[in-house]
Amino acid sequence: MQTVTVPLGERGYDILIARGALARLGADCARLGLAQRCAVVTDSHVAPLLAAEAMASLGAAGFEPALIVVPAGEGAKSLRHFHQGHDQLAAHRLERKSFIVALGGGVVGDLAGFLAATHLRGLALIQVPTTLLAQVDSSVGGKVGVNLKAGKNLVGAFHQPRLVLCDLAVLRTLPEREFRSGLAEVIKYGIIYDAALFARLERDLTAILARDEDVLAAIVARCCAIKAEVVGQDETETGLRAILNFGHTIGHGLEAISGYGKYLHGEAIAIGQVAAARLSQELTGFVPAEVARVAELFARAGLPVKVRLTTAQRGRLLAAMRQDKKVSGGEIKFVLARRLGEVVWGQKVPPALVEAVLTTA
Ligand SMILES: NC(=O)c1ccc[n+]([C@@H]2O[C@H](COP(=O)([O-])OP(=O)(O)OC[C@H]3O[C@@H](n4cnc5c(N)ncnc54)[C@H](O)[C@@H]3O)[C@@H](O)[C@H]2O)c1
Ligand SMILES: [Zn+2]
Repeated sequence: MQTVTVPLGERGYDILIARGALARLGADCARLGLAQRCAVVTDSHVAPLLAAEAMASLGAAGFEPALIVVPAGEGAKSLRHFHQGHDQLAAHRLERKSFIVALGGGVVGDLAGFLAATHLRGLALIQVPTTLLAQVDSSVGGKVGVNLKAGKNLVGAFHQPRLVLCDLAVLRTLPEREFRSGLAEVIKYGIIYDAALFARLERDLTAILARDEDVLAAIVARCCAIKAEVVGQDETETGLRAILNFGHTIGHGLEAISGYGKYLHGEAIAIGQVAAARLSQELTGFVPAEVARVAELFARAGLPVKVRLTTAQRGRLLAAMRQDKKVSGGEIKFVLARRLGEVVWGQKVPPALVEAVLTTA
């Protein structure tokens, strides 16, 4: 088992990474001194696979969990499901020392986390991420929330979990496309923070795609450690935390103009990261050989590296990028790479250059 600590003082917590970690859920919650009544929030794909084990583990440790199942998919990250979730929590009569377990991918983590942030003005949250993306990204760092019609993640809070349990065995049932999508975030950590991780991904990609649990344990632990370090220094994104958005400016724009259906998040940010690498070559001295390594690793991971857009679509993409909530003062700012493992944030990029990179991609 590997343990990564998120250094946030009183709000600090551990991320445990191990095959079979789900079985420890009850015992680990018992150590946190929480009330008996609790809730497990999960989705309709994960419930038949993992809910029984989670409920049994909690039951064996003396807890009384209610099970709340939301429909699988981004649609569950809505005010409607948030409202229904609160009603279900109230019906189970949770109390101040009760807790919520988020058992699922990023959708469940964000919804359950926002329920935990707000029910009875804040309950303890335990994240049990079951997608690769959730294990390396969304379950760590405390951003929780739901979507509005006007855009993704527009309502939410910062609410750090008390514990994160990453069980590598649960990734076995993850659909291939979802797994590869999660890899896009893994590769991102190599580019933004750790050239050795990037080289390791190049070397071990076959074992990773085969979901070798030992190789995955080391990779997930390293990604969590990087996120922990970044969040530890800048919890609420006033500076450094922005580096986690590498590839996301264009990626979010692509997701928005394609109606959040065509691309999975990881696919959109794979395209976005390759485009950002090309912008970096123009603006921050990222050398062509490293741009090529970036594009090649995404391609080998089975992720898209370019997009064909009509002139009209390019215009909509730029407009969508300007609307992203990370934009301040109307200017689009990018995270750009200087070399593998080192990026700079807050870089202004002329829209014409963005267009040029997307046209030649
Ligand atoms: N809070 C953050 O910091 C943060 C960071 C990144 C992304 N996010 C959010 O995360 C969400 C995306 O998360 P995601 O990619 O995990 O998507 P997801 O939660 O929709 O999960 C993807 C699919 O895999 C299924 N699934 C989950 N675990 C499974 C398993 N073990 N076996 C089989 N199927 C399984 C789910 O039911 C779903 O159909 C987005 O809403 C995004 O905004 C949040
Ligand atoms: Zn992302």
